[in-house]
Amino acid sequence: MRDRGADVRCILTGNATNFVTPLAVQTLAGNKVFENTFSLTDEHEIGHITLARDCDLVVVAPATANLLAKMAHGLADDLASTALLVTDKPILVAPAMNFRMWGHAATSANMALLKSRGVHAVGPNSGMLAEGESGLGRMAEPAEILAAIETLLAAGPLKGVKALVTSGPTYEPIDPVRFIGNRSSGKQGHAIATALARLGADVTLISGPVKLADPANMRVIHVETAREMLGAALGCLPMDVAVCAAAVADWTVSNASKEKRKKDASGQAPLIELAANPDILATLSEKGSARPRLVVGFAAETEKVLEHARAKHQRKGCDWIVANDVSPQSGTFGGDFNSIHLITASGVEDWPRITKADVAERLAWKIADVLKGSP
Ligand code: CTP
Repeated sequence: MRDRGADVRCILTGNATNFVTPLAVQTLAGNKVFENTFSLTDEHEIGHITLARDCDLVVVAPATANLLAKMAHGLADDLASTALLVTDKPILVAPAMNFRMWGHAATSANMALLKSRGVHAVGPNSGMLAEGESGLGRMAEPAEILAAIETLLAAGPLKGVKALVTSGPTYEPIDPVRFIGNRSSGKQGHAIATALARLGADVTLISGPVKLADPANMRVIHVETAREMLGAALGCLPMDVAVCAAAVADWTVSNASKEKRKKDASGQAPLIELAANPDILATLSEKGSARPRLVVGFAAETEKVLEHARAKHQRKGCDWIVANDVSPQSGTFGGDFNSIHLITASGVEDWPRITKADVAERLAWKIADVLKGSP
């Protein structure tokens, strides 16, 4: 990694020092090695845990069954596990263990949990293991780990990928001054567009009327109505991935007036006639050869979240549905946090309650894994 220009800092666990000396690792890394022999309560030493935030990537090699279990359950009883709990950077693990440990239901469940949280893995491979037995559990070769690191750190794993994101509400005019709208802030959709652009995607954001500034490094198309949003989306095709995060109005006013509606002398309230709007997500999902390779929809539900979201997954024909609970007690609507269930063809992932920015980051990495192949 140093040959490739990386600045490498190593944390050695207690067990690691049984295999390699800190001095050898320090010489190879060209930087001070951090060991577990310090006090986490010492103010001078506590700064060491920020190690895991001042970097671009955290690599765990070898990742033992024990360390994976600690990561999965949030244990922090030494410097390495504490740093892993503190970091806000991508994590790559290279599992290495006895094949029975790798095959154990506990390790499988821990790996599934870690992957659902966005942790990347390389290996393990099949081959001769430390105990003299052969099987699946051998750490990936250093060259494979290096390739995985370079993929994750490359100019962006989504470089060359064209991404379309819809965000915000739509406004359906009643007359030139009045409209039917909704309270969507656009925070989640804009955060997803930003996260995709950060990973190198060529992003087009189609935004309904929101109070947010246009994010940097992307094309932003401003629209007002659902029809305009659909027209803009179709005009952008072909795309590799489409994320429909907009809260599109289901209905448009079919008797919208070109002039401002005036109060009737009789005092009678006007009748507003509604007609169904086109479904942008469903349209993109069935667009034949121009269909994006991955179409992601959202489901905002206030009750029976999974049941309704699964039905939406089927009905709209998209690949993934990001289901979120927007019941008043959840605080999701307009707030900064979100509780997500990701529905894919292979099942449901329950994500912990995290910020909308973290949801965006994790979703973007998941999209990168699928479109570019997981490292
Ligand atoms: N959507 C869309 N075009 C529409 C309506 C919805 O693209 N005309 C997309 C949204 O962007 C979201 C998903 O469909 O990704 C789910 O939208 P939602 O409003 O939750 O579902 P509805 O289809 O409106 O169903 P219901 O009102 O029954 O919940």
